[in-house]
Amino acid sequence: MATDLLLAERTLDRLMELAAITDEPGVTTRSFLSPAMAQANRLVGRWMKALGGAVEIDGWGNLIGHFASQAPDAKTLLLGSHLDTVPNAGKFDGPLGVLVALAALESLAERGIPMPFHVDVLGFSDEEGTRFHSAYLGSAALAGVLTEADLELRDARGLTVRETVAEFQGVKKIDLPAPRYLREQLLGYIEVHLEQGPVLQEKDCALGIVDAIAAQTRLVYLIQGRAGHAGTTPMLRRRDALAGAAEMVLAVEQMGLQMPGLVSTVGQLQVEPGASNVIPTRVRFSVDIRHAERRLADDACVRLAAQAERIAAHRQLLISHETVQHTPGIRCDPRLIAGLEAAAKTTQDVVPHLISGAGHDGVILSQITPIGMLFVRCRDGLSHHPEEHVKLADIGAALSALTRFLEKFA
Ligand code: GLV
Ligand code: MN
Ligand code: MN
Repeated sequence: MATDLLLAERTLDRLMELAAITDEPGVTTRSFLSPAMAQANRLVGRWMKALGGAVEIDGWGNLIGHFASQAPDAKTLLLGSHLDTVPNAGKFDGPLGVLVALAALESLAERGIPMPFHVDVLGFSDEEGTRFHSAYLGSAALAGVLTEADLELRDARGLTVRETVAEFQGVKKIDLPAPRYLREQLLGYIEVHLEQGPVLQEKDCALGIVDAIAAQTRLVYLIQGRAGHAGTTPMLRRRDALAGAAEMVLAVEQMGLQMPGLVSTVGQLQVEPGASNVIPTRVRFSVDIRHAERRLADDACVRLAAQAERIAAHRQLLISHETVQHTPGIRCDPRLIAGLEAAAKTTQDVVPHLISGAGHDGVILSQITPIGMLFVRCRDGLSHHPEEHVKLADIGAALSALTRFLEKFA
């Protein structure tokens, strides 16, 4: 019989095995509907089957392991996290929550504790949103809340979501997906995730409870200038799109420094024509803005647009932008918060409560069911980095807490 320590060790081994599945050799990168995502789904699907789950990959690349209850009229509790990653990712962001959920079910099964509800363990296909720049395509499809505008987003190769998903499904045309679950069938969604920040380490606690997830906006800015010869065009006669973009990047940084609670990032920049002897004519860049309060994130977006107008006027550039993601801040469910806190208290005296600056699929699932999240300490708050790390003992603490939560919830 596998003890919880053995299950935690196995979870860590599985995380290492998954991290080797990648679209880019030598690092860990898995993006929405990529070959590596298909391979990761197959591997985790095998682990689900070995535990008695009925496994399915839906038309949007989400992995679903269904663990049926024998109880009559059973409802369904959702557990899990995502299996996609950022480029050159760590080994824990996402897979940790899927694999701890499986380990918790195994721990209960080994002790012969039956579940009076069905459990679906979900491995979402697009929490990071790195391929189409807008996150949560997988969970939004599952919840039935995608819009036509989502289907028209384009990846770096110019393919739309609509074309990409049609090819994945082997059909000519796709429709907006219907919700997979009815609200009244569901009991809630619980996700275990590494904290991705330094708070739990500073407080010397393995586990924390998420009270809320910050509002998030992702924008794409386009700056149009005029190309010209880098050797012959006088400095004062230039309309350099990249110099304008550089001012914008600093404006984005300043906004985060000046507005309490706001974080703002430019993470992508494409320069055209991209030759060392040509003045840049077009620059496209991303902006990611987050705040616990939607209103303040919106204020920041308005201020940034005003700043863009000033830069455009001063440098004779054309600057435009579009919003590719605008998600609300959400609150976790008080009952699930209390249940997770009580479960975590069996392994630690104090359980800190946190607001998540990172986005999670729960933002979408909160539209169809109550959500709760358990955070796990990570080394030095580092995440979206290959050295992201969670200790074995903390995986064990998360496993015990989730197992405990499920027992009580039952
Ligand atoms: C996902 O990790 C995000 O918050 O961008
Ligand atoms: Mn994540
Ligand atoms: Mn992430």
